[in-house]
Amino acid sequence: MMEYVSHTTMTSLISSPSVVSSKVVIFDSGVGGLSIYHEIYKILPNLHYLYVFDNVVFPYGEQSEKKTIQRVVSIITAVSRFYQLSLVVIACNSASIVSLPALRSRFVFPIVGVVPAIKPAAKLTRNGVLGILATRGTVRRSYTNELLSRFAGACSITMLGSKELVELTESKLRGNIVPSKTIKRILRPWLTMSAPPDTVVLGCTHFPLIREELKNALPKGTKLIDSGEAIARRIECLLGNTLHAIGPKTHNIALCMDVNQKALQLVPALKYYGFLTLQELKL
Ligand code: DGL
Repeated sequence: MMEYVSHTTMTSLISSPSVVSSKVVIFDSGVGGLSIYHEIYKILPNLHYLYVFDNVVFPYGEQSEKKTIQRVVSIITAVSRFYQLSLVVIACNSASIVSLPALRSRFVFPIVGVVPAIKPAAKLTRNGVLGILATRGTVRRSYTNELLSRFAGACSITMLGSKELVELTESKLRGNIVPSKTIKRILRPWLTMSAPPDTVVLGCTHFPLIREELKNALPKGTKLIDSGEAIARRIECLLGNTLHAIGPKTHNIALCMDVNQKALQLVPALKYYGFLTLQELKL
C-alpha cells in the first residue's frame, strides 16, 4: 500500500496552477478512480499524477450519455488549460463507454478508458454464470451488451446495476463503515439464485475499493475481476519511451469541481493515496 503522508497540510484552493511538468490525469466522477490509480502507481510510482473528480455531477451512472460526454470533455479541456498532459485515464466505466470517441477526436495526448473486464472474466468462470456488477448506466448501455456478446457469448449473464454501492464506497472513503447487511440486500438477487455467478466483473471503478465487503457477502470462492492491472500495463506500454523525461518529482494533486464539506471529508483518503493537496477546478 502507499505511504501515508501526514506532514503536509491539505488545503482547498481556488486553483491557478501553472505548467510545471507533464502530468498523468486520472479522472472519475468520485473516488472510484483511486482503485485504478493504485494499480498504476504500483508499477509507475514516479509519474506526476493529477486525480480529478467531478463531485458536482456525480454519479455518472445516473446521467444521460449526452450530459456525461459534455461534462467529461469540458473537464479534461479545463485541466489541459492549466497543465501539460502526457496521458489521461478515464477511470470510470460509465464515462468511458460513452465519451472516448469525443475525447480522442479533441486531444492529441493518449486517452485510456476503463471498461468492464468481461473478456478475462468469461475465461475464468467454471459454472458458466457471469455476474456484472456496475452502475445502472453501464448495465444498460449497448457498449456493455456488445462486449458481452463478443466475449461472453457462451456464458449465462446476470447484471446488477447499483448506485447505492457507489455511494457506500464514497462513504467508506469518508471514513464510514459499509454495513454488511446493506451489501447483502443489494446483492440479494444473486444470493438467492440456485446457481449464483462464480465470477463477478467489477464494472465500476468504485467497487475494488469495497472488494473485501463484497467478498464477504458473496458465496465463498466467488472470483472478483476488475480492469485495474490491465490498465496499468497499458499505460506503462503507452508511456514506455517517454518515462525517462518525466522531470523533477512534484507532489500529486487532487482536483474537484467543488471543495465543499463532503469533498473535504475525503482529504484523509486522498492523502493516504499520496494526493497532498485538494484544489478546486473552475470550468
Ligand atoms: N466509478 C464510476 C464507474 O466506473 C461509477 C460512479 C458513477 O456512477 O459516477 O462507472
